Amino acid sequence: MPTIAIVSQKGGSGKTTLALHLATAGAYAGKKTVVVDTDPQATAAAWADWRGDFLPEVITAPPARLARTVEKQIKAGVELVVIDTPPHADASAREAIKAADLVIVPSRPRAFDLHALEATAEMLGFVGKEGHVLMNGVPARATRMLDDARAKAEGLGLKICPVMFGERAAFHHSSGDGEVASELDPESKAAMEVDELWIWVCGQTGMTPGTAANADT
Ligand SMILES: Nc1ncnc2c1ncn2[C@@H]1O[C@H](COP(=O)(O)OP(=O)(O)OP(=O)(O)O)[C@@H](O)[C@H]1O
Ligand SMILES: [Mg+2]
Repeated sequence: MPTIAIVSQKGGSGKTTLALHLATAGAYAGKKTVVVDTDPQATAAAWADWRGDFLPEVITAPPARLARTVEKQIKAGVELVVIDTPPHADASAREAIKAADLVIVPSRPRAFDLHALEATAEMLGFVGKEGHVLMNGVPARATRMLDDARAKAEGLGLKICPVMFGERAAFHHSSGDGEVASELDPESKAAMEVDELWIWVCGQTGMTPGTAANADT
């Protein structure tokens, strides 16, 4: 029953996009999946409103209620909890990290974004957990940029998720329609990257990747 926290102090790094794509991959794999949206902006919850009755379920919780909320979901038989967090919010990030079995830190591989990793790394160290940086919005042919970004993240004691997300229109367009990339275009590179992420997450958490299922209720 893994709980996965998506954390980054930087605004717009791709937390909500990652949380929703990961959780929907879980739902398609037949796992009972819930997204807990701790962002006061409630972007993930708005996406679920646009989406209608399709899975995954998205619920909201303030940081002070997060531990209890996750506990309740697991008691109710939820198999995968994905926590989306706001930027610039220490309490939310800390509570999410504490509740998590796996922490994923999306970051664009650019200087200001990488600088913001310092705050996230510090918080992970404070709680005593490790975090995996997922390079997000990676431009094509950015080998040098990626090498520098990985070195910076590793220098902060962070691990590198072997999967990365390119800068892909399918991530952006699908989210705005209450969908995910694979629903907008199953053949898209974005959809394939999410599949790779799902396999990696299963390996990290001991979940079986499962078989494709419908994401409707
Ligand atoms: N890999 C990607 N390719 C293209 N667009 C992306 C990608 N990842 C995120 N985006 C877009 O970037 C914007 C910010 O993404 P998102 O809302 O997921 O970030 P966030 O970290 O949750 O932001 P906030 O800190 O405000 O909560 C959105 O418009 C989203 O569609
Ligand atoms: Mg967000």
